[in-house]
Amino acid sequence: MEKVFDAYKIVGYLSKFYDAMLTNADLPSRLALNFFWGLDEAAYQKFLVQAFAGVPENFSGRLLEVPVGTGVLSLPVYENLYGAEIFCLDYSDKMLDAARARAEQMNLRGINFIQGDVGDLPFEDNFFDLVLSVNGFHVFPDKNSAWAETYRVLKDGGIFSGCMYVKCENSRTDIFVEEFCDRQGFFCPPHETLSSLKEKLFQKYSSVEISHVESFAGFVCIK
Ligand SMILES: C[S@@+](CC[C@H](N)C(=O)[O-])C[C@H]1O[C@@H](n2cnc3c(N)ncnc32)[C@H](O)[C@@H]1O
Repeated sequence: MEKVFDAYKIVGYLSKFYDAMLTNADLPSRLALNFFWGLDEAAYQKFLVQAFAGVPENFSGRLLEVPVGTGVLSLPVYENLYGAEIFCLDYSDKMLDAARARAEQMNLRGINFIQGDVGDLPFEDNFFDLVLSVNGFHVFPDKNSAWAETYRVLKDGGIFSGCMYVKCENSRTDIFVEEFCDRQGFFCPPHETLSSLKEKLFQKYSSVEISHVESFAGFVCIK
């Protein structure tokens, strides 16, 4: 946990670079996304659509996003969810600081930012209509607790959706993840494959849709 915390403390300080990469915003980011992740512009757009495929247009219930990171991908989505009650949780206070600053800059009011651990969520059972996890499960150190907690706080009939890295889809990405992301504490193994992820979700959820773009699996599940 400490290794991940330290890694994202640094990312929080360097959030401008992180945000540029995640939004495919400049030439170095486009080159890196293409080279390490196999995502050209068209694939990147598919990745984005896939990440938020489980959030219905005009969603107006109670939504938990974990982890929110700097909010660079999700806060623009929340701009259009007028009636929703939104809770954004992350373990790193530095990442949360960046997310709060972004929300303020966007004039997005009413979002609850919470520092906490996905493995010990500070919410009662069946509290949320939607739990969203974008790029989280390949990072969380205690994955079993994360699967259990995201399930526990979701209402029956609620949506669990998002995306995560899966191994064995692109060998260059797998080398990059193992040699850099895992070693530096940005990611935390063991990583799922597309089929192990499918199996895991089918065991828990009553309906599961899985897609993938290169090494990113997208999931939309109903509890
Ligand atoms: C790759 S970032 C993804 C953030 C965001 N969803 C995005 O796509 O930009 C991973 C985030 O997971 C957070 N994190 C790691 N372990 C966590 C835990 N146990 N509980 C909550 N957040 C955690 C990190 O602090 C970091 O902000």
